[in-house]
Amino acid sequence: MKRILVLISGSGSNLQTILDHCASGKIAGQVVGVISNKADAYGLVRAEQAGVATSVLAQQQFACREDYDLALQGLMAGYQPDLVVLAGFMRILSGDLVRHFAGKMINIHPSLLPKYQGLHTHQRAIDAGDEEHGASVHFVTEELDGGPVILQARVPIFEGDEADEVAARVQAQEHSIYPLVVQWFCEGRLRMQEGTAFLDDAALGPAGYASE
Ligand code: GAR
Repeated sequence: MKRILVLISGSGSNLQTILDHCASGKIAGQVVGVISNKADAYGLVRAEQAGVATSVLAQQQFACREDYDLALQGLMAGYQPDLVVLAGFMRILSGDLVRHFAGKMINIHPSLLPKYQGLHTHQRAIDAGDEEHGASVHFVTEELDGGPVILQARVPIFEGDEADEVAARVQAQEHSIYPLVVQWFCEGRLRMQEGTAFLDDAALGPAGYASE
């Protein structure tokens, strides 16, 4: 059983799908801990309901970003994770921390990377007149939202859509692709080597697995 550590900042709906897939046996792993940088993140309630250990590490407790990341790295390492899953964790991680967990840390980002790295992705896609949008699961590297893509899901943008409508459409897809990628990792099918993601020893292209 792989040991999965999940980092959150908010609602934790992606965390919930991963907990559910572990409970049903679809993911050959166990969520051993959930860390949040926000004490009021609803995902902490979800974790407690599933009997998973939680930790809160708030920025206010630290003088600077470096101190925070050092403490976070220590806290994370204490869970001895095989896989670190960033699920709506809204902080930029330091290079040292990212390097420490290289090849075993993944993130989900609400855009079709490399488009719309950073924030406000849904509104930016609408403003650009895009007809499609989506989500990407990728390995985390030192480049923000820039690590190799593993799997994407696409959704349409309809005329007159508001950002929250598009966000809901994207999130529904996130709840399919994220547990699937976690499952692949736990089955030992997924790895990152020299900045490329591999599934079953086949190198994945810029848009991840079977995107077209
Ligand atoms: C997700 O939609 C995820 O794509 C996004 O935060 C949301 C968390 O939702 N992540 C980012 O924007 C990271 N840059 P959740 O807490 O309900 O899983």
